[in-house]
Amino acid sequence: MDKDVYASFARELEDLDAKGLKRRLVLVEKRKGPWIRIGKRWYLNLASNDYLGLAQKGLDLEADDSLGLGAGASRLLAGNHRWYKELEDTLEDLYNRPALVFGSGYLANTGVVSALVGKQDAVFADKLVHASLIDGIRLSRATLYRFPHHDLDSLAWLLKKKRALHRRALIITESLFSMDGDIPDLPTLIALKEEYKALLLLDEAHAVGVFGPKGLGIAEELGLKAKVDLLVGTFGKALGSYGAFVITNKILQEYLLHRARSFIFSTALPTIVVARSLWGLKRAVMAQKERTHLRHLATKLRKHLRTIGLKVPSKGLASQSPIVPVIVGSNQAALKLARDLYQKGFFAPAIRPPTVPPHTARIRLSLTSDMDWDNLAPVIEIFKGQLKYSSP
Ligand SMILES: Cc1ncc(COP(=O)(O)O)c(C=O)c1O
Repeated sequence: MDKDVYASFARELEDLDAKGLKRRLVLVEKRKGPWIRIGKRWYLNLASNDYLGLAQKGLDLEADDSLGLGAGASRLLAGNHRWYKELEDTLEDLYNRPALVFGSGYLANTGVVSALVGKQDAVFADKLVHASLIDGIRLSRATLYRFPHHDLDSLAWLLKKKRALHRRALIITESLFSMDGDIPDLPTLIALKEEYKALLLLDEAHAVGVFGPKGLGIAEELGLKAKVDLLVGTFGKALGSYGAFVITNKILQEYLLHRARSFIFSTALPTIVVARSLWGLKRAVMAQKERTHLRHLATKLRKHLRTIGLKVPSKGLASQSPIVPVIVGSNQAALKLARDLYQKGFFAPAIRPPTVPPHTARIRLSLTSDMDWDNLAPVIEIFKGQLKYSSP
């Protein structure tokens, strides 16, 4: 091996370490309810997206002997097994609109965005949208206009100035922001997309299972799911499985099937994973009690964080979101706080750039319906006296 070839990579890694940006894989030995065992100790897991605690349930689901396990081909070749049909039919019944299942949320977002827009088109995206959406925009080669987080006046201004310069326009945001736990003004987004003849893509990855009477997301909660051109949901978070879906109309469903490269050029999911997603979806629809408990827990945690001086939203849907970020600022300070939490039995790693913008490193407390207040109360004690932290 020629050491010189690797030297620049090693230097970059050293540089990351010096900036407090080195990452490591933690080995989870066991899971039980909201707890995980790392080494010999159990920790309260505040770092999962398993909001309804479904990931550990329903493990008696059997493999499908008639189809085997691996799909063996992409969906457009011989990989489109009956579990996909059942899953897409169920999604269609729930959302009242056509659905297309993708390999993962990352694959859905990169595939959908790069299929829908190209060089002549424009994307208007919230500054904090997920990396998978940014990667889709980059792949598309469309012109990107980013508006400050939730600043829909800026979006309106950008649309007014730039929309006419492009063939298609796609507005992109998340319904429940993964690292901030906040929610955009969906009615205004819909009004803008209608006024400027744009498409609206709403990434509901973190809202599915959590919001809406049937757990279908924020658009369902607000009675607006028929108004959004593309809703993206994932099976890997509250639904406890793996994969993703796009809810759209007949034309775009068909178009994506022909044009989304991550759909076309990737092996279909194993039968058991798709069957498991269907199970998770059905369970999530029925999980009203868990949703209510989770949202109640989130509201209570925020209330207590406010009493010790942290700025957290107190009103509206965002105050019930199970993602509660405590923004620390520097990477080193976030790492130190994460270590303190870890020593006291709480697993909530520091979230640092590039996952969040520079100087906004944070602890992201992520709740699940398996938790109760007794599990969370000690966290408030740990944060007490740390009033320099803020939270959006
Ligand atoms: C907002 C958002 N969209 C998409 C994804 C990607 O989903 P998946 O993990 O299924 O690839 C994630 C998760 O990491 C996410 O937070």
